[in-house]
Amino acid sequence: MNSLKERILALKKEKNAVILAHYYQEAAIQYVADYVGDSLGLSIEAMKTDADIILFAGVHFMAETAKILNPTKKVILPDLKAGCSLAESCPPDLFQKFIDQHPDHVVITYVNCSAEIKALSDIVCTSSNAVKIVESVPKDRPIIFAPDKNLGKYIISKTGRDMLLWDGSCVVHEAFSLDKLIEVHKLHPDAKIIAHPESETHILETASYIGSTAGMIDYVKTNPNNKFIVATEAGILHKMQQEVPNKILIPAPAQDDNTCACSECGYMKMNTLQKVYDCLLNETPEIIVPEDIRKKALLPIERMLELSK
Ligand code: 13P
Ligand code: SF4
Repeated sequence: MNSLKERILALKKEKNAVILAHYYQEAAIQYVADYVGDSLGLSIEAMKTDADIILFAGVHFMAETAKILNPTKKVILPDLKAGCSLAESCPPDLFQKFIDQHPDHVVITYVNCSAEIKALSDIVCTSSNAVKIVESVPKDRPIIFAPDKNLGKYIISKTGRDMLLWDGSCVVHEAFSLDKLIEVHKLHPDAKIIAHPESETHILETASYIGSTAGMIDYVKTNPNNKFIVATEAGILHKMQQEVPNKILIPAPAQDDNTCACSECGYMKMNTLQKVYDCLLNETPEIIVPEDIRKKALLPIERMLELSK
């Protein structure tokens, strides 16, 4: 009997499927993936693939973005319940009311939101291009930024723009403890702290580098330092360590890290290798986006891709 990994690789070939995985996926899933990346990189890969099936090993909004960009492909997600606290914090009816209260505002949304929210937006951004996207808006235009208030605050600090922020946050990045981080840094004073911009301001203020998951990996590769404390979801450590096998990577501690699982995204970890296999075998669960929503959601994503060139 072939191993699960071998069966997935064989099925992938037989069905002309591609597996796109986010850095937060468990290592076993990253091993069977054709591409592992951040939200922006994964969207671009999804858009240009000529495979018949895109198995998205990530969370729902990522698979939905792939479907919006490449609608003739069958997009499947190993677990349909793999959501995101940011996307869940922003229901379309409430967001529509918020927009209606500020009709003169340009609406910029972080890609971690549903297709319905993207359809209500002027421009989408990811953590790797958010500052650039906000700076592309003329200075005299007021901006609504949703759904991540922490990323929003970070962009305000970088651009000086006065943005109206939606009150959403990432449960994983809000769990980091400043006190514990300082304790770990005291034990490793030679380590540089690097953080994802979904983290709270007090965590970001300690960081030598702030950026997307891909940006963080790039930083540890190119920075001459030998030790890093990494404030993002722990799944990133797999790829990061592969890239810098001789460097020391220390996960940033969460408020209550007695279980050692606090900086893991429960949504991302709903996907397992077994579910990847079942999903590929049965070609379900499939991501369906109603065509009217898809067309409206595509425009702000295309604007983002154009501005990110
Ligand atoms: P990246 O686009 O930086 O990979 O972020 C995705 C995400 O969900 C972070 O929590
Ligand atoms: Fe959403 Fe946070 Fe999980 Fe990223 S880590 S998918 S932002 S809940």
